[in-house]
Amino acid sequence: MNRQWLYAKPPAGKIGKDTFQWTETAIPQPRAGEVLVRTRMLSLDPANRAWMMGKTYRDALEPGQVMSGFVIGEVVESKAPGFAPGDIVEGDWGWQDYAAMPARKLTKRTADAPLEMLIGPLSVTGLTAYFGLLEVGQPKPGDTVLVSAAAGAVGSMVGQIAKIAGCRVVGTAGGQDKCDWLVRELGFDAAVDYKAGGVFRALRAVCPDGIDVYFDNTGGPVLDAALGLMNLKGRIACCGNVSQYDVEKPAPGPMAVPGLIVTKRIRMEGFIVMDFYDRRAEAEARLARWIAEGRIKAMVDIVDGLERAPEALIGLFEGTNRGKRAVRV
Ligand SMILES: NC(=O)c1ccc[n+]([C@@H]2O[C@H](COP(=O)([O-])OP(=O)(O)OC[C@H]3O[C@@H](n4cnc5c(N)ncnc54)[C@H](OP(=O)(O)O)[C@@H]3O)[C@@H](O)[C@H]2O)c1
Repeated sequence: MNRQWLYAKPPAGKIGKDTFQWTETAIPQPRAGEVLVRTRMLSLDPANRAWMMGKTYRDALEPGQVMSGFVIGEVVESKAPGFAPGDIVEGDWGWQDYAAMPARKLTKRTADAPLEMLIGPLSVTGLTAYFGLLEVGQPKPGDTVLVSAAAGAVGSMVGQIAKIAGCRVVGTAGGQDKCDWLVRELGFDAAVDYKAGGVFRALRAVCPDGIDVYFDNTGGPVLDAALGLMNLKGRIACCGNVSQYDVEKPAPGPMAVPGLIVTKRIRMEGFIVMDFYDRRAEAEARLARWIAEGRIKAMVDIVDGLERAPEALIGLFEGTNRGKRAVRV
C-alpha cells in the first residue's frame, strides 16, 4: 500500500493534526517517461505552512491533495532513460511512501553521501545558507553578521559559513539552552534569546559596532530590532518570515521601512534558493568540503516514521528542532 498524508483543510490560525488526513491507497504504476520512487527521507520546512496561505513562489496547496514536500528517495522501477532501480533521487512528491514521477521532475543524487546530508545540508538548506549569505548578504571579513532562527536548519549553517568568511557572528534563537548551544557547539560569538523580551537592547549589547549583514529568517520583532542596529550600507538578506507563517493574519511590516532603509542606505533583498541552481554543483562541493573538514557541523534532527510528519512540522513552529528537521520513512 501507499501510505499518504493529505492536506485536509486550511488551518484557522495554527496548524494542527486535523490540518492533515491519513489515507492508504494502491502503489501507482509508472507510465512511459515516469519513474516509481520510494520515499526515504522527507524534508520538513516552514514553507510547508506558508504554502497554505495562498500563492507564493509556487501555487497554493489545495485541500484533498497529497501534502507537498521535498523528498529524497530511491528508484524502484523506471520507464524513463537515465534512471535505474536503486538510484537516489530528489524531488517534490510530498508526504507519501511512493509516487510515479515524470523523470524531468527528478534530480539524481550521489549514493555516496548519507541521506541525512542529502535532505538538508547538501541540498536546499545548505544552498539557501550559502547563496543567501555569500551572494545576497555579501559579508566582508570583520563584518558583524546577525542571523535569526539561528539554531534551525538554515540559520545554523549561515552562522558557521559567516565564521568561515571571517565575520563576527550573532544569532537569535528561542530559549537560553539553544543560545548556549550556538556559542558552545557552533562557534557563534554571541546569541540572544528573542523569547526573553527586550530583543533590541539585548542585540545592541552584543553588537556594539552595529550590524553589517542581517540574514532574516523570521521577520517580526527581530527584523524590527535589526533595522534599528544596521550600519550604513548594511545588507539584509530576506530569506523567510517564519514568525508570520503559522498565524491567522500576518502582522503589518516594520514601521522603520522605508525610513531607515533610506537614511542608512541599506540594501534589503529577497531571494529564493532556486534562483542560484545553475551554480549548485560549485556550492555543494564547497559545503561538502567544509563539513568533511569539520568547519561546519551539519546538524540534522531526525523524526522516525511517516505517521509523525504532522507533529514534526507543527514542532518547527514551537522551536522543537535543532538543525535540519526531516522525517525518516
Ligand atoms: N528563500 C529560500 O529559498 C528559503 C529556502 C529555505 C528556507 N527558507 C526560509 O528560511 C527560514 C528558516 O527555515 P528552516 O528550514 O531553516 O527552518 P528552521 O529554522 O529549522 O525551523 C524553524 C525555526 O523557526 C523558529 N521559529 C518558529 N516560530 C518562530 C517565531 N514566531 N519567531 C521567531 N522564530 C520562530 C524556531 O526556532 P526558535 O526556537 O529559535 O524559535 C524553529 O526552529 C524560514 O523562514 C524558511 O521559510 C527560505
